Amino acid sequence: MADNEIDSHSGVETTGHEWDEIKELNNPLPRWWLIVFYATVVWSIAYWIAMPAWPGISGYTKGLREHSERENVVAAVAALDEEREAQMTRLIKASSISEIESDPELLQFSMAAGKSLFGDNCATCHGAGGQGFPGYPSLVDDAWLWGGTLDDIQQTIHYGIRSGHSDTRFNIMQAYGRDGLLNRDQVDDLASYVVSLSGRDADPEAIERAAPLFAQQCTTCHGADGTGDTAQGAPDLTDAIWLYGGDAVTIRQSIHNGRGGVMPYWTERLSETQITALAVYVHALGGGE
Ligand code: HEC
Ligand code: HEC
Repeated sequence: MADNEIDSHSGVETTGHEWDEIKELNNPLPRWWLIVFYATVVWSIAYWIAMPAWPGISGYTKGLREHSERENVVAAVAALDEEREAQMTRLIKASSISEIESDPELLQFSMAAGKSLFGDNCATCHGAGGQGFPGYPSLVDDAWLWGGTLDDIQQTIHYGIRSGHSDTRFNIMQAYGRDGLLNRDQVDDLASYVVSLSGRDADPEAIERAAPLFAQQCTTCHGADGTGDTAQGAPDLTDAIWLYGGDAVTIRQSIHNGRGGVMPYWTERLSETQITALAVYVHALGGGE
């Protein structure tokens, strides 16, 4: 406004706004502030031109530099794969656990790879450290259902257990009670018998009645002494390690219903080297034979 008065005290023009006799001075913006402001405007225009910036209907303006964080990650992963390739090739060529174990660099590599693969693929069922859950065996002890050599472990991972793969490990215990193969009393007696196998007290009469039944029905898989058979995946019933549980009630359920736990196969989902690395890792968890 042309008729703005000049403030007599400071000599600065006022804006003409006045509240309760207080008048607003029309001081110019500081020069440094204006310079920064214009610099940011210039910077933003340069940025729009150089870098990906504006979304469009199909895609976005790519900018002169065609920068893409996504492509950078893909390139970095490819570079890492190439770097690992050499180790991977050596791992796949190593034929035995002793060969891998005698090569510290290779062992370290497969342990690291195996550990991360285990976390991604196996921990949901076997627990983060392989400690297992009821129905999902512990992989850290030296009790093995199907054998604990590197080859055994590798085969289990490749083809699974009752997995539906044509080469799967397979053996099925009948649901003796549910399917009426044995009556209720016989199942009860057998449960007592199994309890006694691991050195615990159980009704002596039940044990006596169950002994011939056990010999008839159970020994083909669990062995005459109940120590199991890794060729058939039949657990040892005489130790303190239980897949489903060692109390009388759970044992009774195992006999009544059968179990038939499923371990998936990985042969089409993981590469040969990944499976080898996993087998080395599982073998090293504590109980490898
Ligand atoms: C969906 C659940 C599940 C997943 C995932 C799984 N497992 Fe298993 N695994 C099982 C079950 C159940 C068994 C026991 C099957 C039986 O009753 O014989 C088993 C058994 C095994 C055994 C045999 C143990 C023995 O005592 O012989 C090994 C080794 C094993 N798993 C390793 C792995 C590895 C390595 C992975 C990851 C690549 C994996 N499992 C992922 C459920 C699973
Ligand atoms: C055809 C082979 C076979 C026969 C016969 C068999 N079992 Fe089994 N049994 C197995 C397998 C395999 C398992 C492993 C669990 C699974 O199926 O997931 C098992 C598991 C068990 C378990 C659970 C063990 C645990 O660690 O929790 C008990 C208990 C058991 N059997 C008792 C018996 C009794 C008692 C008989 C006889 C009435 C019997 N089994 C007959 C194969 C057999």
